[in-house]
Amino acid sequence: MIRPLIAGNWKMNKVPSEAATWLGELKEKLKQIDSSHVDILLCVPATHLTSMVAAQGFLALGGQDLSQHESGAYTGEVSAAMLKDVGASYAIVGHSERREYHKENDGLLNAKVQKALEHNLIPILCVGESETQRDAGKAKEVVIAQLHAGLSGVSFESSSDLVIAYEPIWAIGTGKTATADDAQEMCAAIRGVLKELYLAQAEGIRILYGGSMKPSNAAELLSKADINGGLIGGASLKTDDLLALVEAAK
Ligand code: 13P
Repeated sequence: MIRPLIAGNWKMNKVPSEAATWLGELKEKLKQIDSSHVDILLCVPATHLTSMVAAQGFLALGGQDLSQHESGAYTGEVSAAMLKDVGASYAIVGHSERREYHKENDGLLNAKVQKALEHNLIPILCVGESETQRDAGKAKEVVIAQLHAGLSGVSFESSSDLVIAYEPIWAIGTGKTATADDAQEMCAAIRGVLKELYLAQAEGIRILYGGSMKPSNAAELLSKADINGGLIGGASLKTDDLLALVEAAK
């Protein structure tokens, strides 16, 4: 049984001073429920990490991207060492918004996964098909190709060092969710690729579902064998919704 991971992706929302108050509220509310069965992670803008680090006792923090480079003349970039130094333990890699708006390709994402691991940051590699690709019956082919490319030459010590997030692009921020059976089918295919690459270690790798996960659909999605948590955008911005998702992960 894999310990579930409820991971919020705040995207470009809230300012750092709001985040500290928000965390205080979450901490108080968490005392009223049993969250001992689940790991909670918030992937926030890099500017927020320092002000949120005090909260690390009850949740983990992560970046939303990282540079493939170690350091140097890369204006605007944030390195793995910087994220690690301010207390992040995870980094999202290859979110579809990065793939689409910043033209990030699989080769680049592979370098980012490797760079994160070099610095003991756990990469959350995002994969997912567009609506057109799904309608054309190509969803699995696309996701499997993204996985093979993103994980090419990647190795790690423990199965908890890598997380995969299946985020169908058509479900992100749209209110449309993959059915639990469709999401499970894809996550099982992802597990199949992980088994080819990592043999027995694959059994312990967390696979998250992302795309309009919310309190009303989380329990069903999270009950599926190969869905070990969620990567949550909109609903992770509200403490009550996040709490409901933590409870749904039982
Ligand atoms: P929503 O939960 O807002 O659909 O976003 C999902 C997502 O992109 C998480 O990374």
